[in-house]
Amino acid sequence: MTNKTSPHLVHIETFGCQMNESDSELVRSLLKQDGFAFTEDRERADVMLMNTCAIRENAHNKVYGHLGELQAVKKERPLVVGVLGCMAQSLKDELTKKVPLIDVLAGPDAYRQLPMLITNALQAQEQGFAKKAFALDLSEYETYEGVLPDRDGGVNAWITVMRGCDNFCSFCVVPYTRGRERSREPQSVLAEAQQAASLGYKQITLLGQNVNSYRSGDWDFARLISAVADTPGIERVRFTSPHPKDYPLPLLTAIAAHPKICKHIHLPLQSGSDRILDLMGREYTAADYSRLVDQIKGMIPDIVLTTDIICGFSTETEQDFESTCRLVEQTRFHSAFVFAYSERKNTIAARKFEDDIPEDVKGERVKRLVELQREIGGARNREYLGQTLSVLVEREATRSPDKWMGKTDGNIAVIWDKSLEPLQPGMLTNRRITDSSVAALFAE
Ligand code: 5AD
Ligand code: SF4
Repeated sequence: MTNKTSPHLVHIETFGCQMNESDSELVRSLLKQDGFAFTEDRERADVMLMNTCAIRENAHNKVYGHLGELQAVKKERPLVVGVLGCMAQSLKDELTKKVPLIDVLAGPDAYRQLPMLITNALQAQEQGFAKKAFALDLSEYETYEGVLPDRDGGVNAWITVMRGCDNFCSFCVVPYTRGRERSREPQSVLAEAQQAASLGYKQITLLGQNVNSYRSGDWDFARLISAVADTPGIERVRFTSPHPKDYPLPLLTAIAAHPKICKHIHLPLQSGSDRILDLMGREYTAADYSRLVDQIKGMIPDIVLTTDIICGFSTETEQDFESTCRLVEQTRFHSAFVFAYSERKNTIAARKFEDDIPEDVKGERVKRLVELQREIGGARNREYLGQTLSVLVEREATRSPDKWMGKTDGNIAVIWDKSLEPLQPGMLTNRRITDSSVAALFAE
């Protein structure tokens, strides 16, 4: 810090996945330890940080939009601008050439250097010159061990248990922006879970780019999640984001048997065509995937299954796309995130295959699949009508301050009238479902 008596104010904006939400909590913690303070008010900020995502082109565009706005602010007053996360890591040259207003770039493994980089940039600014500072080394070891996240409040505490990805799916930029897989020590994860419980958090979500690849000595993910779920005071444990290859029997048994491990599995399918799955490097076939789904449904009948699907990957034919639709119909996911393929620089797909599906065809396939999934999701939610479900109260419903919004064990939103019963966020309540839509359940 340059001036201890009046701390510099930092505003941080987070884009992208839950990993980034969790990383922003680490960044806040690291900067606060160094004497910085945070503000929600952009007008008052001395330092504006953007924690960015690189997964698809529209993620880039959002950040470029925000940087454009900052250009005008920076003309009017002193401001240090920092770009963190996956875009910083993957687009250093483009960002420094195209966006001269950026003072600091820090990749996902370089946040311990951030207080120093920002302090230097502030000092340089006070002395009337601009000095750019970059920290973009990826690490095989950095897990931010010993940094307690500065959490956002609410009912859920994120705990990052592993970082990086070694799968190299051909479409995905993550292995390049976040580096190799590495897992934290189980004891430090468990200590963090206890600390979250003592602060009043009721739910823990274990995070990792490939969370169920977790391994530390003889601890695998099944053992870790079961131990976290035993933390007194914690009511629910979730995890994301997993790869279908990492669902050994002990993990399915743990999910089936432990009352605090939520009966929700996100199982990214990506495609239902074997030819496309092979080009994507996913290492399973549609039949392997269906077998896993059948096994899961057999062991955990009330499981909620959700997925991610990419439409219009290189060479995807109408027939390939229809195979995806058939697998979606057969699996009957509760919900699905459907994306148009967006070629990412330097990935295996960008180097080996042509991005040859026209954007309008990708868009049309996304639309058809979303429509199909809406029908299925709507029908799945209607199955809950008349049932009484355990719901964790999260917060006031958006735009309806007289209603609560909570989640079922399967992570489906439930909305009901506050006047029915005095409740608080963090409480578990049983609610009878009286109505449903594609996106939510409505309760008495
Ligand atoms: N284009 C479109 N979608 C992508 N995803 C990852 N990379 C790409 C890409 N290049 C999707 C996958 C993944 C989710 C997080 O984002 O479906 O599971
Ligand atoms: Fe990307 Fe595949 Fe790793 Fe997921 S498993 S982060 S899709 S490379």
